[in-house]
Amino acid sequence: MQTLYLIGFMGSGKSTVGRLLHEKLGGSYHDTDQMVVEKYGEIAAIFEQKGENQFRDYETEMLKETASENFVVSTGGGIIERKENGEFMKKNGLIIYLDTSFDEIGDRLGNDPVRPLWRKNDSEKQQLYKRRNKLYAGLADITVTTDQKSPYIVVEEILGHLQ
Ligand code: S3P
Repeated sequence: MQTLYLIGFMGSGKSTVGRLLHEKLGGSYHDTDQMVVEKYGEIAAIFEQKGENQFRDYETEMLKETASENFVVSTGGGIIERKENGEFMKKNGLIIYLDTSFDEIGDRLGNDPVRPLWRKNDSEKQQLYKRRNKLYAGLADITVTTDQKSPYIVVEEILGHLQ
């Protein structure tokens, strides 16, 4: 199996869908956020103490540990902020974009205190969403919309695309 990279905005379901996909497909499962936490500590603390750029370095380092076969990889929403990450995923595997509307993301995340970039004001979050959506779409090999769909349905749709 070619490695599958799940990309999309915060709250699009990358981790839940990734774990379920991995259950169906086998191989190894990695979550770049989880890998960063295990090696470097909590993400909010990294942002606060070392800054976003340092977090992006850690995230890139973790992504590069994934191989081109037999991995399902859930990424952080900002993985596409570094061009080299997009190029790496494109070269190494298949990129699956979980496309979720801004309104639905707002409903799912509410006032989530854990994600540093979700603490910005509404117009900043919308701008971030708009800018990133173009980047996700530009990289995607497969796009699945997720509004009002359970993670199980999203996984079934992805599997349908992979056949
Ligand atoms: C980020 C998304 C987060 C995490 C970090 C930065 C982003 O991951 O990597 O807080 O820049 O969008 P999720 O997409 O899993 O929330």
